[in-house]
Amino acid sequence: MSLDLTWFGHATWQIQAPPHWIVIDPFFDENPVCEQSAEKVECDYILLTHGHFDHVADAAAIAKRTGAQVLANYEITNWLRKQGVASVMGMNLGGTFRTKFGAVKLTPALHSSMLPDGADGGVAGGFLLEIGKSRIYFAGDTALFSDMSLNARKPIDAAILPIGDLFTMGIEDSIEAIKLLKPEYVLPSHYGTWPQIAQDVEDWARRVRAETSAVPVVLKSGESFRLER
Ligand code: NI
Ligand code: MN
Repeated sequence: MSLDLTWFGHATWQIQAPPHWIVIDPFFDENPVCEQSAEKVECDYILLTHGHFDHVADAAAIAKRTGAQVLANYEITNWLRKQGVASVMGMNLGGTFRTKFGAVKLTPALHSSMLPDGADGGVAGGFLLEIGKSRIYFAGDTALFSDMSLNARKPIDAAILPIGDLFTMGIEDSIEAIKLLKPEYVLPSHYGTWPQIAQDVEDWARRVRAETSAVPVVLKSGESFRLER
């Protein structure tokens, strides 16, 4: 089974695991490095790591139009329900929900989570996904923390990590995170969107190759990576 990981810039990703299409942290229309409009996005699941605008911006609109089920922490799903999103699954850290495409575990992240209107967004998280034989770790917005290594008790095929610095870990700490996680492939996220989180991603990739056992996969906004398993 193969699946495709598509980056839409910033922290917005889509996983195509036919017949399922999963969108993570939908930030399309106001994302300066994304060509795709929210109106054209098709998916049957939406996963939200935390409540910040650059992660939930288009979630309600896409969920209402497509009927996709939204998985997020309990506070965020409550907020979406009040906006008329019917199909939600509220979770909390450490919990796993079994979807039609595989298992979704909400993992800890070190970050904040207030929703755009000031509502309580619970705590920030990440996702550990088991889709067929693939394990994918989506760290979400986070600082480096050593317990991240607990996600690597079973091998991780692909890890998606923030590298932008300022709001999340930067390049230096992402290298440490990769050493803890030991993924086969690592894909950078949450950088290059605005000048404050600009990064030299080729330098990051060189360091990943030199200092870790992982293979760096640098995508341009709109590009996909096929994970064969
Ligand atoms: Ni954030
Ligand atoms: Mn963010």
